[in-house]
This record gives sequence, C-alpha cells and structure tokens, in this order.
Amino acid sequence: MLHLSLPRMIVIPGPSSLGLGWRIAERCGVDPQPVEHRVFPDGESYIKFTKSVSGEKVVIVQTTAPNPDTRLMQLLLMARTAKDFGAKDIVAVVPYLAYARQDKRFTELEALSLDVIFSLLECSGVTDLVTVNIHNEASTRDVERKHRVRFHNLSAVPLLAEYLKKEGFDKAYSLSPDKGAIYIAEAASKVLDGGYNFFEKTRDRKTGEITMAVKDLNISGRRAVVFDDMISSGGTMAKAVEALMAQGAERVAAACTHVLYMPGTEEKIRKAGADPIIATNTIETPFSRVSVAGLVADKLKELE
Ligand code: R5P
Repeated sequence: MLHLSLPRMIVIPGPSSLGLGWRIAERCGVDPQPVEHRVFPDGESYIKFTKSVSGEKVVIVQTTAPNPDTRLMQLLLMARTAKDFGAKDIVAVVPYLAYARQDKRFTELEALSLDVIFSLLECSGVTDLVTVNIHNEASTRDVERKHRVRFHNLSAVPLLAEYLKKEGFDKAYSLSPDKGAIYIAEAASKVLDGGYNFFEKTRDRKTGEITMAVKDLNISGRRAVVFDDMISSGGTMAKAVEALMAQGAERVAAACTHVLYMPGTEEKIRKAGADPIIATNTIETPFSRVSVAGLVADKLKELE
C-alpha cells in the first residue's frame, strides 16, 4: 500500500519572524499561513488568522526582540486565538525568548519573570515551547516543572562553529566569557578542534559593571573565537575579545546565537578587535550569518 506523507502542521510566521517562519515552513514542506497584523496608533496589536486552524497542530514562529513586550503580547494573541478556534496542539517557536535571563529570584521581592512568561504561555494554550540556546537551560527546566508546557531547547552553536571553520577558524581556540557558558565553548571546540576554556566574569547586580578575571591562555599568534548565548550591550563580549587581543591573539571572532543590537554595541565589540562578529537569525540583524531554520524544522518533524 502507498503511504503518502501529508503535512500535519500549520506554520504561522508571526510578525517578528516573517523570514524565519517562512523558511521553517519551507523546510517542513508546508505552506506558511500568513497572519493579518496591525499595530494601532496607541501601540496595541491586532491579530487575525487567515485560515481555520480547527483540529490542527499549529506552529507559531515569533521571536521576542526587539520590543520584547509587544512581541510577547502578539505571541499570546496568536496562541490564544489558535486555542479559541480549536487547534489540537500549539507549538510556540520562540527562537529568542525575552525575560529568560530572570530565571530565578536573585534578590528578595523581585519578579520571577520567566515563570510569569511560562504561566502566560500555558494559559494561552501553548503545549510546546521551542527555543534556541536559552540563557540557562537548567534553570528553565526548574520553571518548566511548574507548568504544563513542554520545553525544547536547541543549540545553534555547532552551526556557528561550522560557519567559522569555513571562514578560517579551523583549530581556533574556543572561549566562553563566563563559567556558566563553558558548555558553549566545549560544543564549539568539538567542531573547531582547537581546545576551549572560559573567563571568569562577574557583574555587579546594581551597576551592571563587568569584571573579567583573565588567565594566561598561551594564545599568542593563534586564532580564537569567543562564543556566548547572546550579546546585549556588548560589554561582556568586548571585555573577552580585548583580553585575547592583549595576549597576542592573531585574530579573534565574536560569535553568539542572539544579538539584541542596541546602539553602540557593534562599535564596542569592533573597537575591542573582533573580526568578524557573527550570529544566527533568531533575531534578524546585520550579523545574522547562520540560519536556524533547518535546526527548528528538524525538531518540529520530530514532535509530529
Ligand atoms: C549573560 O550571562 C549572558 O550569557 C551574556 O553574556 C550577557 O547577557 C551579555 O550581555 P552584555 O552584552 O550586555 O554584556
């Protein structure tokens, strides 16, 4: 008997991830289903689906930067609309999940932001959440346990390393700017094959000031790559690159999954000596050199 493999999901590229959402749909072999979207003069979002989602597995692709609050609200509007109109499962693909850094209470009486985000996703009908290199997977798992949302975290680090390998960074030394991200440097070094290490970074929780304890890395004349999950103000990356240049590295690349691209970020990292600066398209910026579309599509096929 002939078994035809029919598409079993609807992929909706959200307003913040139109390009990536279309590419993911293509990779999944389904037609993307556009969403009608407007922002009213007061900043509120309007969302309308263009086709029925009843009885379907619905995949919503919506990153949450820039403008995290607006992008999150649009995600919730789409998820809740899918739930209201009878979607069977709702998979939120949120390549960059805002508020994920506040995954514990670091001081008393502060908001546990990631927990709030999970609650909102859950009550909007989200059954699965797919992210890429979330800030801290272990802490996110602690939050996941309190909710009925299945959490899947993917890593784009091997893809970034593959890209750099072709750009002359084969056998380059991989570094993470802090001990928490050592797993990133380790994963990269499996591709680059030049060893890995980490810096010890501390950030003053009140002033945001970064201090980096630098060890002697014996890096003189070598190429190196600093890998991190994200670049926000650029302070962390700039300090790490600067330290490597000061130790005589021949060339240092800056690589991360997400770039928030705030004013001054690029200048700071370039001034420190990084060349090139690369990231994925979880957030579209001029640094997006690596696409996560295939990575996400493979996961979605697995979830079928
Ligand atoms: C923090 O632990 C993260 O992994 C990044 O290192 C951090 O968010 C980067 O922030 P910034 O670019 O503002 O230094």
